[in-house]
Amino acid sequence: MAALQKLPQRRRLIRLCFLLVVLWEVGARQMHYSVPEEIDKGSFVGDIAKDLGLEPPALAERGVRIISRGRSQLFALNPRSGSLVTAGRIDREELCAQSTRCLVNFNILLEDKLNIYSVEVEITDINDNAPRFGVEELELKISEMTTPGFRIPLKSAHDADVGENTLQKYELNPNDHFSLDVRSGVDGNKHPELVLELALDREEKAIHYLLLVALDGGSPVRSGTSRICVTVLDVNDNAPIFTQPEYRVSVPENMPVGTRILTVTATDTDEGYNAQVAYFQEKTLGETPEVFELESTSGDITITKSLDFEDAKVHEIDIEAQDGPGLLTRTKVIVTVLDVNDNAPEFYMTSATSSIPEDSPPGTIIALFNVHDRDSGQNAFITCSLPENLPFKLERSVDNYHRLVTTRALDREQFSFYNVTVTAKDGGKPSLSKDAYILLQVADINDNPPTFPHMSYSAYIPENNPRGASIISVVAHDPDSDDNAHVTYSLTEDTFQGAPLSSYISINSDTGIVYALRSFDYEQFQDLQLWLTAWDNGNPPLSSNVSLSIFVLDQNDNAPEILYPALPTDGSTGVELAPRSAEPGYLRHPEKKLPREFKKCKEAPEKLNR
Ligand SMILES: *[C@@H]1O[C@H](CO)[C@@H](O)[C@H](O)[C@H]1NC(C)=O
Ligand SMILES: *[C@@H]1O[C@H](CO)[C@@H](O)[C@H](O)[C@H]1NC(C)=O
Repeated sequence: MAALQKLPQRRRLIRLCFLLVVLWEVGARQMHYSVPEEIDKGSFVGDIAKDLGLEPPALAERGVRIISRGRSQLFALNPRSGSLVTAGRIDREELCAQSTRCLVNFNILLEDKLNIYSVEVEITDINDNAPRFGVEELELKISEMTTPGFRIPLKSAHDADVGENTLQKYELNPNDHFSLDVRSGVDGNKHPELVLELALDREEKAIHYLLLVALDGGSPVRSGTSRICVTVLDVNDNAPIFTQPEYRVSVPENMPVGTRILTVTATDTDEGYNAQVAYFQEKTLGETPEVFELESTSGDITITKSLDFEDAKVHEIDIEAQDGPGLLTRTKVIVTVLDVNDNAPEFYMTSATSSIPEDSPPGTIIALFNVHDRDSGQNAFITCSLPENLPFKLERSVDNYHRLVTTRALDREQFSFYNVTVTAKDGGKPSLSKDAYILLQVADINDNPPTFPHMSYSAYIPENNPRGASIISVVAHDPDSDDNAHVTYSLTEDTFQGAPLSSYISINSDTGIVYALRSFDYEQFQDLQLWLTAWDNGNPPLSSNVSLSIFVLDQNDNAPEILYPALPTDGSTGVELAPRSAEPGYLRHPEKKLPREFKKCKEAPEKLNR
């Protein structure tokens, strides 16, 4: 109306008249049609000819046409049928956006009488648009510690249609943790929100995939979907867990230093730093943690000090595993050390005699000793042995005690000393053995008399020997020792030619040298028989005898002497008569009668010269 006021008065009047005519016409002849959007070009909208009360041919003759103001033609007239048709596809949304009613107005002009008619076509909505989300995939991050009830706004969807055909509702796929709540904003739009219903656990499920569906009310219903990917953020809510509640391993005691014996492993179900596990050895008082070393990142346990079964049969190692922020778990490693035959038997001499008399009876105990092996089981099973052919044997007693006893009488003169090797051998494989030496002196007993090397002795001494001349030296041996072997000599007392033998002969009791105490005279006796005795100094002393024959050798110590007839001192003839029965020598020493036996010797001088 404001624009009209600017026009000149006359033209305004003409125009007003024209408008009044048109309004009258329209009032009488306004035509109203309705057509759905998106129908094909040339589709029937309304029968213009009929509504104007004209026959279709007449319509053409009168020059009918559509007048539109600067807008592209949406409709066309079919002059032959006289009907209004679509001139192309009509998109309601393009034309009217979200307006609830979409009306298109135009006029039809009959050129012959310049009649003008008003036409209104309503474009009805069809459900040609689905609800659409701005983003098809939504990434959400939420901590696993988030409490239920927590809300996360989601992106809304948009549907270009109107009415029932536009967005009506949202739906969320069924799932355990989330629900959907839709709030209506002040603008009347629906805003979907995700609501946490049940606490999350990243270790159970780290990513939740949800599907949000937006639905319109058309027929058929159209929908749009948005994929929601909810990543659960880790919280250090899990401590590391060892693969075993307790670890057990058996190791031979000779396992070299540096050997890895076991690896402990703890896993943490959290992620990243929260799952970074380190291992530590707990230092307990009294234990010896230096025996093993624990590698803090790998969990490898290695030996750092030689094991010794005899020292410790079992080691316990307390270990803890810690994750990055410091949650920890403990476990125990029990290392059983296995025995290896690394110890030889050992001897413990309880008592030992260093010396026994040689006449000790069989079964005399020489030593009592104990053998012990620090190993265990078969490795500590000991057998003791002696070399063969010794007059000893071992007697086993309780608790690995052994006695060394004699099996027969000893003879000091044969073996005066024994170095008895006792061998103790254990039952290991290979077995280890140890020798012990038991030294035994055999004490002397006076069981041997002194003996002369010869059965009898003979000695020759020229007559007229000086007094004290040595005649012979005899030696007797005694295999015993010390006093029992100390020999003294003596002469067996006798008388010879009326005088004690000891006035003729003496023997040095220590040296065994026989001396002449007189000068012997062959002419008095030619030989001498005597017994020598050798004594030892034992208690009681033992002795043995030997015979000694001493022969006096003649020397020319006598001038011939006329015995008969002696020069008569009384004046006689000096004649002596020998009886016929006189024996040889009868006249030689008339005053001395020779003993019988000496005569025999004299008669056989060749015998004496042997
Ligand atoms: C005993 O015999 C062993 C081996 O033959 C030897 O080593 C040791 O010295 C001997 N002991 C004595 C006191 O002779
Ligand atoms: C040794 O001689 C003495 C005296 O003649 C005698 O009593 C003793 O029995 C003799 N002993 C031996 C072993 O002949």
